[in-house]
Amino acid sequence: MNEKPGIDNPQRKLIVAIDGPAGAGKSTIAWRLARKLGYVNLESGAMYRALGLKAIEQDASFEDEDALLKLAEGSRIRLEPTIGGNRTLLDGRDVSSRIRERDVTEAASRVSVHPKVRAWMVARQQEMGAGGGVVMEGRDIGTKVFPHADVKIFLDADPVVREQRRMEQQKLKAEVAASVAAELRERDRRDRTRAASPLVAAADAVVIDSSSLGEDEVLARAEELVKEKLSD
Ligand code: DC
Repeated sequence: MNEKPGIDNPQRKLIVAIDGPAGAGKSTIAWRLARKLGYVNLESGAMYRALGLKAIEQDASFEDEDALLKLAEGSRIRLEPTIGGNRTLLDGRDVSSRIRERDVTEAASRVSVHPKVRAWMVARQQEMGAGGGVVMEGRDIGTKVFPHADVKIFLDADPVVREQRRMEQQKLKAEVAASVAAELRERDRRDRTRAASPLVAAADAVVIDSSSLGEDEVLARAEELVKEKLSD
């Protein structure tokens, strides 16, 4: 009998971290990989988005770190994995669609620069993924949330390709496409240059550049990495 943990041995539940910039394809790959493995997919960005929404609704300043931390502490932010992806609940309200809108996207990026907010988020994310059997995606999963994740993937793509994908995903008209592309670039810059846990690949992450790869090819590569780990 094969006692070795493997893809056929569901006892071993890995933590898979997928990080990378917006538009690299993280969400789709994380979701598809989780489904293949029978794991839970957690979109950490949705938590920052939920807090961004709350800040908008409560008219909190995006600059006021202490006020934002208080807001987070007084909120119930939950990710509910479903077969179609994560449902995001803010104080019991389903905000899954609302948090994808442009104003919330901007707010999420702005609230996520604050170290105290990040520490609060990271602690929640660690609780959620502690049991393993999880594919968590974000910006700092392999560096801060799970520095000992079993598999770390940094999914990158050329900025022009990422902008193009966003345009297509969101079926944007030409007149708004340019400003959305500019916002994506600005968010990228903020994510990569912030002092607290900037977006970088963990030293032990496998970098996959999806610029010229199809979704199935990226998924196959990710699956390969999981299989390698399971047969260690
Ligand atoms: O992945 P996303 O676009 O939904 O993330 C929204 C914002 O949250 C993004 O601007 C960066 C931030 N974020 C973060 O700082 N750390 C994470 N682990 C996930 C997202």
